[in-house]
Amino acid sequence: MLSNFNMRSRLRKGFAFFADSILQLFIVLTIVIAPAALSGQIAPVHENTGWTNQAGGDVAYLGETKVLRGNMLSGRTVYQMLPGSVPPPAVFRKAPYLIYSGVNTEMIALWQLFNTYTCSIEWGTDTSYNSGYLQTAEYGTDHQHTATLSNLLNSTKYYYRVIADIDTATGHFRTGPTDSVTDVTILLYGDTRTYPVDHDSVAAQIIQTYTNDTTAQSILLLSGDLVANGNNESDWDNQFFDPQYQRLQQMLRTLPLLACMGNHEGAGTLFAKYFPYPFYSADRYYWSFDYGPVHFIIIDQYTTYTVGSPQYQWLVSELSGTTKKWKILILHEPGWSAGVHGNNAQVQSVLQPLCEQYGVQFVFAGHNHYYARAVTKRVEHITTGGGGAPLYTPDSNYPNIIKVDKSYHFCKLEISTDTLHLTVIKNNGDVIEQFDYYRFYTWTGAVDSLWRNPANWEMGVVPYSKSDVVIPAGLSIYPQVSDSVWCNKLLIEDGAAVNIDSTGYLFVAEN
Ligand SMILES: [Fe+2]
Repeated sequence: MLSNFNMRSRLRKGFAFFADSILQLFIVLTIVIAPAALSGQIAPVHENTGWTNQAGGDVAYLGETKVLRGNMLSGRTVYQMLPGSVPPPAVFRKAPYLIYSGVNTEMIALWQLFNTYTCSIEWGTDTSYNSGYLQTAEYGTDHQHTATLSNLLNSTKYYYRVIADIDTATGHFRTGPTDSVTDVTILLYGDTRTYPVDHDSVAAQIIQTYTNDTTAQSILLLSGDLVANGNNESDWDNQFFDPQYQRLQQMLRTLPLLACMGNHEGAGTLFAKYFPYPFYSADRYYWSFDYGPVHFIIIDQYTTYTVGSPQYQWLVSELSGTTKKWKILILHEPGWSAGVHGNNAQVQSVLQPLCEQYGVQFVFAGHNHYYARAVTKRVEHITTGGGGAPLYTPDSNYPNIIKVDKSYHFCKLEISTDTLHLTVIKNNGDVIEQFDYYRFYTWTGAVDSLWRNPANWEMGVVPYSKSDVVIPAGLSIYPQVSDSVWCNKLLIEDGAAVNIDSTGYLFVAEN
């Protein structure tokens, strides 16, 4: 068969001839092959000339000599590197990568080429890729392609293959869950800029994580600062999409990425060019989406979010409007962290009151290049800035700090109805910390004063021994405990009450 490497193909010309009084027009695809690369190699033939075999046989030429006809396998042939062959020139400038559209039966694939080619993508639940097929044409002015794979099954692993000229790239992903699913696993980290070799080592652990636990192959959230200078194309090429960092590229083609803006994204033009989330509107880089039981809110700290601003008003409507039990904010500059960049005062004064009012459980940030956890009035503030940027030394004396660690790492969130289990994993596989966050059970007193009546609790479930309980102020009915009940933590706000009669016991494990 023919060589596939060191090979160029071009349409030589079209011409016509008569056969059986029928005018036929055909085009010969000329393949130029370096002589040294001929021996023992495998030739893919992309174009089906169709004229010698009306049933659709393939024809290949070596020079002007027809060397193969009618016995090609159907479908496309995947390229294969053989010993001694010279690699072909790169076709992909940015290999296929994924973003999540917010629709749990879709996935968006993107890629960028060095030149103009028509491409195709095919996908399926195995490597026969027989669920769907799309041809793509470049958009914009920089040889970019995108394809939205739709009508997918929920929580299902799909394989895909992108074919671009003589190159082929493969990947796989797991689709989002149904809206009613209560358990999801999510991966999250930030500040991947500057040292892609370290980012690559974090990516290796992320791949290992979803290899060990396939539910972890869901979505990947980034808290900003993807590259050192987001205004430079070369930084995107050399730091985030450089093919030499193979684990990083494998991660990008297997996990859909959702990122907030960091200060290093600069004007955001190239950030939006490579991550054109359908959530954007009019260059507005704050947005939200649901994933299983979680409402994620992406804050843009480089657009004003002062009280009364459009972003603030939008945030209030997001928090007050969602019915999801878990509310998680993603932003770049943390309100409570462990130094170098000081705590962000606006997060403290503007966002924290909203978190308290509307029950946001976690705020994930980056900006400081280490891991830090601070807790302020039931809100966990996580700094996960160890994605690849030069590490800083955290100062555990900062207010409300619970844990710090100077290392490259990422966070794994295993979320169920009541519990979020957070595991923080270093790039060497060691665990920095892991803990369960029990979502607070909030008393509403909607029906009566009975502690054991599920209708009196916000999510319709009576607390149990590992539940953290809040009895809010300002209600007209407060719980009456007349037998034995349990909880983990108990917060009784000023003006609120729990009434325990002579036969009642309220066991609080930790307070
Ligand atoms: Fe930053």
